[in-house]
Amino acid sequence: MSNIIGSVATSHIPAIGNAIHKGLQKDEYWQPFFDGFPPARAWLHAAKPDVAVVVYNDHGLNFFLDKMPTFAVGAAPVYTSEDEGWGIPTVPPVRGAPELSWAIIEQAVADEFDVTTCQEMLVDHACTVPLQLMWPEGWEGIRIVPIAINTVQHPLPSAKRCLAFGQSIGRAIRAFAQTLNVVVISTGGLSHQLEGERAGFLNPEFDDLCLNALINKPELLTRYSAHEIVELAGSQGAEILNWIVGRGILGGAAREVVRNYHIPISNTAAALQVLEPA
Ligand code: DHB
Ligand code: FE
Repeated sequence: MSNIIGSVATSHIPAIGNAIHKGLQKDEYWQPFFDGFPPARAWLHAAKPDVAVVVYNDHGLNFFLDKMPTFAVGAAPVYTSEDEGWGIPTVPPVRGAPELSWAIIEQAVADEFDVTTCQEMLVDHACTVPLQLMWPEGWEGIRIVPIAINTVQHPLPSAKRCLAFGQSIGRAIRAFAQTLNVVVISTGGLSHQLEGERAGFLNPEFDDLCLNALINKPELLTRYSAHEIVELAGSQGAEILNWIVGRGILGGAAREVVRNYHIPISNTAAALQVLEPA
């Protein structure tokens, strides 16, 4: 039986990776964003996770628009990143936890989620920037199970389906034969749109509604269709679906330990939310 210690949800903007690389954490522009992280890291390190289940979306590094799984689960012994064109320096590889990956896959398929299994998988900024934020000293001590959600190529999975998928993953972790401490890292969002007529669109009211609902009423978010989410949060704001999967994994009643919200970082309403079981 493994234990889910809580969840950390954060934006995954590539510019954050650059700011870390250049040591700009105390810079006037960056400080309100980075100041949210010391309490989140203190919480994380006290909780001593062995494995992080990272729920994110791929931005064209491992999957492209021609082949886009709705839900993909990494089952590799190691994951590497590559410069995806954002100019972020490449980061060291991160170790996998394939036995937990397969337990998650077995449970998902038993629960009728037809996942894509990836025994090789490149992970992009959406996976690595949150790791850099949470383990700035390096991630030798942690293993990951990356879970990619299609928030990019329509049709997107519904919020309802995402919550149910997360609940299935949570069951797999709790039933896992080994005793591990597992943290959920959900990445992306909140509101942002990078292209088209509404480029630069942000919606702090909707972001606030999401952050509040995610604590103990995630089902409130399942009444929005994927198109309504795009309308309310922006086309890339659909990354909130990753947070909804993550909330499903955590399950049960939760308590908010950390929240930080700052507009804008790059083109995005940057948010951080740490939840633990109540
Ligand atoms: C930005 C945000 C993202 O979610 C992303 O994947 C890439 C860039 C941005 O605001 O710059
Ligand atoms: Fe993104």
